[in-house]
Amino acid sequence: MYVNIIYIVLKFAMRLMQFAIKTLDLYKIYKRDKVHAVNGINLKIYRSEIYAFIGANGSGKTTTIDMLSGILNPTSGEINIWGMQQPKDLKKISPYIGIAPQDYSLYMDLTVRENIEFFGKLYRLGSKKVKEKTKELLKILNLEEKENVLAEFLSGGMKRRLSIACALVHEPIILLFDEATVGVDPILRVYFWDYFRQLRNEGKTILLTSHVMDEAEKADRIGLIRDGKIIEEGTPAELKEKYNVNNIEDIFILLSKRGEVEDESEGKLCTFFILPGVGCS
Ligand SMILES: Nc1ncnc2c1ncn2[C@@H]1O[C@H](COP(=O)(O)OP(=O)(O)OP(=O)(O)O)[C@@H](O)[C@H]1O
Ligand SMILES: [Mg+2]
Repeated sequence: MYVNIIYIVLKFAMRLMQFAIKTLDLYKIYKRDKVHAVNGINLKIYRSEIYAFIGANGSGKTTTIDMLSGILNPTSGEINIWGMQQPKDLKKISPYIGIAPQDYSLYMDLTVRENIEFFGKLYRLGSKKVKEKTKELLKILNLEEKENVLAEFLSGGMKRRLSIACALVHEPIILLFDEATVGVDPILRVYFWDYFRQLRNEGKTILLTSHVMDEAEKADRIGLIRDGKIIEEGTPAELKEKYNVNNIEDIFILLSKRGEVEDESEGKLCTFFILPGVGCS
């Protein structure tokens, strides 16, 4: 009897362990403004996976990320991060998470180096470790030339790089990059993606948001969010095959608008709102 219970509990725990991030019926409702920013999100993000969260402006991406990181409390629902409960286990979870927020959380009156060091100290890294990591990240993110420049005087792309460096300084295993490459030039974007893949191959899990669809295609899986709900999810190849399109942008444009219905029998998208009176093709 007891053996059976232990077995069931262990099996459940093992299953839970394989996800880096898991949410169950997650809601964030701003009652005063009557806004359902997140409307029942069920996310399952595997360990060592790059998951791209895509969706139109205001669809709930940042709100979800902020709840995962513990910046915001959910109205209801469950968040499981690496087997722990957010926000209950916030203190334990914090070292696991590195977040580069949509609006940089940089200190504009500190230099590039000081910003990275500040975040290192915030996570209680020893001063030797802070120096080592800062040196390493300045190099990787190509910020060495700017290390003594105030964050205030950086370009948008450089601020983004610095924001990512600050998120990585304490060696977290879950990375939340909100608008990961906004303002980043195409050459650096390629470099960023190589770096993201390297981090993934080292065992890190990355959840990022992006409005650049050819970039989202580089992720292992994509989740499309609309009105605070995930309405489609899969690998880029699966999604392209399902909708019979050549790129994710077409799916984004179709699904991000309201009013469409899906023909279950055909598994194809009927775009009545675009072409009234025209059935599924
Ligand atoms: N503090 C708040 N109070 C009321 N409504 C809010 C608040 N914060 C966000 N919202 C609303 O919640 C919804 C989701 O916003 P969110 O920032 O999560 O969207 P997003 O998908 O990140 O958009 P974007 O692509 O523009 O960054 C929006 O309608 C937004 O106006
Ligand atoms: Mg956002």
